[in-house]
Amino acid sequence: MMDLAKIPSSEAAETIPRLMEADLVDRSAKISKFCSWRLVPLAEGAAPQIRDMGYEVVEGEAHSRARTPPQERIRSALSGLPEEVLALLPMKWEYVGNIVIIRYFSGMESYETEIGEAYARELGAKTVCVDMSGVSGEFRVPDMKVIYGTETEAVRRENGVLYRFDVTKVMFSSGNIEERERMAKLDCTGETVVDMFAGIGYFTLPLAKFANPNMVIAVEKNLDAYDYLVSNIEENGVEDRVTPVLGDNRNMHTEALADRVLMGYVQKTREFIPYALRIIKPGGVIHYHDTFYVNDHENEIRKVFGDALGERGFEILGIREVKSFAPSVSHYVADIRVL
Ligand SMILES: C[S@@+](CC[C@H](N)C(=O)[O-])C[C@H]1O[C@@H](n2cnc3c(N)ncnc32)[C@H](O)[C@@H]1O
Repeated sequence: MMDLAKIPSSEAAETIPRLMEADLVDRSAKISKFCSWRLVPLAEGAAPQIRDMGYEVVEGEAHSRARTPPQERIRSALSGLPEEVLALLPMKWEYVGNIVIIRYFSGMESYETEIGEAYARELGAKTVCVDMSGVSGEFRVPDMKVIYGTETEAVRRENGVLYRFDVTKVMFSSGNIEERERMAKLDCTGETVVDMFAGIGYFTLPLAKFANPNMVIAVEKNLDAYDYLVSNIEENGVEDRVTPVLGDNRNMHTEALADRVLMGYVQKTREFIPYALRIIKPGGVIHYHDTFYVNDHENEIRKVFGDALGERGFEILGIREVKSFAPSVSHYVADIRVL
């Protein structure tokens, strides 16, 4: 006997992937149908969370799935492909809602239909996309090829925040999860916050929802990302605390407006420091993201802000590594108090 969540069939398409993403499902057992319900086998200890979400949990039996790991099932489903292709099949993937993203490998083009079908079937995905070359350009647009399915809009729920976006149009960095969490844990009571690179609301949404700001001005230049920013603000119920602005953050001319400025845009970030300095109040904090060589990041950050601030002093409140970016290079965020 095991715990089974009773999910109404009408909610199954949205809820089951969400439960899987949160690791609440026992993937070694099969989901079954019962009248207008889906009975979803639960991972050990998941029942209280499922009940908290408002679903009933019952005891029952579930047929076990082959306990073979998905990597092996994918390999065996594609065993007819040439050896050199099999050797390159990605054995890691990213789930965004029920969309699976795999990395491109050279030579996959001739077999992408079979590959797409196998990953979709074995991983229970509605869509399979190939990440062809990461993100590029000013808007950090992904280069995705859809090889199975048609629906590319994903919903990611993370720490009480809902992010809706089209995986082929805007990026989402799953590696920045701790920084999104950190934004939620700040105390921004009474503050005006400017998010200079808001995207779909990566940092704006957790901060607005949980850090108690007076107002977040969320600036985004790319219309695709901006449209999702607006709908995500509504879906998360923070319309009273976030003002989305479609435009270039360099065109914000109000001086000394912000208690806090978020600069979530690596590699070109230093070009935007003069604009951040214009909008920050004396004593305000800038969360400055950029990439640096691992052993030299603190010196570099001191130099970048020393050069930019001249007479106006600053204090480094903290520096944390967000994620590895390339060999010997990491993405860091520095909290800088501008005096
Ligand atoms: C994609 S986000 C960076 C990643 C994000 N911080 C995360 O955690 O995943 C950067 C956003 O800044 C926007 N952007 C770039 N330059 C801009 C500018 N000058 N003004 C406003 N938005 C800009 C891009 O369109 C993009 O949506």
